Amino acid sequence: MKLPPCPRTPSFVQVYQWATRPTHFLDSCAQRFGDIFMARWPGYGLTVFVNHPEAIKQIFTAPPETFSTAQIYEILRPVVGDQSLMLMDGKPHRRQRSLVMPALHGERMRLYGQLICKLTEQMMEQQELGEEINLSSCMQTLSLNIVLQIVFGLDETDQLIQLRQKFMEMFNWIRSPLLILHLVVKSLRINWGPWSAWGRYLRLRNEVDKLLYAEIAQRRKYPQPERTDILSLLMAAHDEEGQPMSDKELHDEVMTVLTGYESVATATLCSLYCLQKHPEVLQKLRQELDSISDPSDTNAIAKLPYLTAISQETMRLYPPVVVAMRVAKTPFEVMNYRFPVGSQIVADIYSVHQRQDLFPNPKQFKPERFLERQFSQYEYFPFGGGDRRCIGYAFAPFQMKLVLATIVSRYKLQLTDDRPIRLVRNAAGVAPDKDIKMMLTGYRHQKPKSTSISTPINVR
Ligand code: HEM
Repeated sequence: MKLPPCPRTPSFVQVYQWATRPTHFLDSCAQRFGDIFMARWPGYGLTVFVNHPEAIKQIFTAPPETFSTAQIYEILRPVVGDQSLMLMDGKPHRRQRSLVMPALHGERMRLYGQLICKLTEQMMEQQELGEEINLSSCMQTLSLNIVLQIVFGLDETDQLIQLRQKFMEMFNWIRSPLLILHLVVKSLRINWGPWSAWGRYLRLRNEVDKLLYAEIAQRRKYPQPERTDILSLLMAAHDEEGQPMSDKELHDEVMTVLTGYESVATATLCSLYCLQKHPEVLQKLRQELDSISDPSDTNAIAKLPYLTAISQETMRLYPPVVVAMRVAKTPFEVMNYRFPVGSQIVADIYSVHQRQDLFPNPKQFKPERFLERQFSQYEYFPFGGGDRRCIGYAFAPFQMKLVLATIVSRYKLQLTDDRPIRLVRNAAGVAPDKDIKMMLTGYRHQKPKSTSISTPINVR
């Protein structure tokens, strides 16, 4: 069997590089081997990385029975639950996606704009002039707060307040390297009591489950059809046969939607970092934001071309998720190679975004490249592709752009540590290797109208 080139370093070194600094591993392999290379990792079949747009197209347009993606997400099972769309393939996967997607798209999504701006403004108002802000943790908290409010609504019942708090606690624990290790290495998942890592996770999980099921039961008992939060929309959704989701499905899809918050936080953080490093881009963005006639029109803000190009360029240079992976269920042919059943086929997002022929001078942050030409969905794809494309592909940039616009149009920030960042592995994908800290140095002008609204219309 003819196989693509493979790094000669021992496999345990490769696994270590992949597990800690995946972008470094991808950079060095793509430079040495070009469009396709493979790795052999203990416990896995062949792992094949491709970064040529034609090959990416072949992966994303292959018939659904070619691959399993559920197998890739197996480590998330203890977090998202058995009925999560992530852990399904084929028809069940299509059903779950069709039930969840409408809540995150189109008009539904636009209702959340005011809320995103308001929560961002609240976070910034807590910062003191001249003091250092740990923007990394602020973005994590803000992003989780936004998604929790959008999923459960704004009601301040004791049950909901408690539920949001418990979720915060649980997700903060899931992000710790110790817990990630337990997710990756199944044999570590032993409950040695409430003070052990896994025991603590199970306790938090149990508390969250109880509160979430109680909230679902409450809403089933007292339906409020006018509600537009995601949980209510999921409860109202029906499949092609007219069937609604069960309590367990609702629970698991809520967990699934919540897992996306961290990638949005990383993308927003990196874009704020890039803006501080490139004052000319920041100035151009401010001019664009100042030109908006109605600053409370969040849909108009999200459509601004330069703001959009900044969010695209940030996710090109710092994609929060660096690869989209599949497991071959039938032999798969790509770039004149044929890979057996069980091979892991990797659409290498990071390396495609680094291709000199597509993005000249690829290490340079240059939003203008997205205004000068259009890229196909196989040349630029931070959200993956095909029938497994990220369900947050519309919502994530929407949130990212509104958070950026709110901060940039009113606040002046300055990096307190100017050193370049590198991407390292974190819970969901990759993130900067150090906390990004900035100082609040001043205000530009008065509070924008958009944030003076105390309760976003309709999101209850
Ligand atoms: C900037 C933020 C985000 C980035 C860069 C990102 C990126 C990705 C990527 C690359 C994939 C794999 C796609 C594939 O295999 O082809 C994915 C899958 C997924 N993402 Fe995101 N994501 C982001 C935010 C979100 C958000 C906000 C949510 C929740 C609303 C979310 C939920 C999911 C789910 C459920 C999947 C699995 C989809 C499936 O298997 O059908 N992500 N994401």
